[in-house]
Amino acid sequence: TDRYAVIGNPVAHSLSPDIHAAFAAQTGQAMHYDRLPAEPDAFAATARAFFEAGGRGLNVTVPFKLDAADFADRLSDRARAAGAVNTLIAHDQGRIEGDNTDGAGLLRDLQHNRAVTLTDRRLLVLGAGGAAQGVIGPLLAAEPANLIIANRTASKAQSMAERFAAQGPTSGIGFADLADSTPVDVLINATSAGLAGALPDLPANLLAPGATAYDMVYGAASQPFQDWARQHGAAAVCDGLGMLVEQAAESFHRWRGVRPNTAPVLRQLRAGNG
Ligand code: ATR
Repeated sequence: TDRYAVIGNPVAHSLSPDIHAAFAAQTGQAMHYDRLPAEPDAFAATARAFFEAGGRGLNVTVPFKLDAADFADRLSDRARAAGAVNTLIAHDQGRIEGDNTDGAGLLRDLQHNRAVTLTDRRLLVLGAGGAAQGVIGPLLAAEPANLIIANRTASKAQSMAERFAAQGPTSGIGFADLADSTPVDVLINATSAGLAGALPDLPANLLAPGATAYDMVYGAASQPFQDWARQHGAAAVCDGLGMLVEQAAESFHRWRGVRPNTAPVLRQLRAGNG
């Protein structure tokens, strides 16, 4: 049986094994998917041992997405653009490809599951860390009217916008500058603030009528952002559970050549998580 795993630290509460087990059952794929914990300084050794023992693929989560990009023998175009890898694929002769399915997962959840239009709309991404970097390229590919990157540390948002400037109309600013900006149609939270129960300081008139607010995290960490969005007029408020399932489906497709149906798996997770 082909073996897969999610590698991270911590990894005990990862939902990926449940998601991939459901995909495998649904599509009749014979595979095992485990959790693979690694010490912070032992990513490469742990991943190498997994592949040398015949492992076929890994999902990579916090804090190893940059280590995984270094580890891979080659990168997909979208992984190179993201500067991070969330999926490792074993090819023939032991060559390991690094891919990044996070952006595709976000777009699939927004456009397909939630029927949110991105083309010609005003987009705002909060945060300029690894999570933001993985989705800017795919968001610009949807041809928005513009995409603002706003970050607590303004300089990081500015340099990220410069990196992606060739791919579409984007600019980087600090949170304070949001007070002067035109209301946005789609607000995406890519900060890790919610993990500490915090929320970026946002102006009250940030959202245009009919706006969608999307958090890339889910569970309790998503609560402050979702509460803020509801209180400030968002027409739709989304957590990141759909993105999680969709990036998993995209990884599954890379590994197995089969595209699972995500809707029943997402329903099952929502039922389980209350
Ligand atoms: P990740 O992989 O989750 O993106 P990261 O690369 O460490 O993690 O980036 C964390 C992001 O969340 C950054 O944009 C960070 O802002 P700074 O660049 O100014 O540090 C943002 N962030 C974290 N805590 C925050 C908070 N309490 N308020 C606002 N932004 C926060």
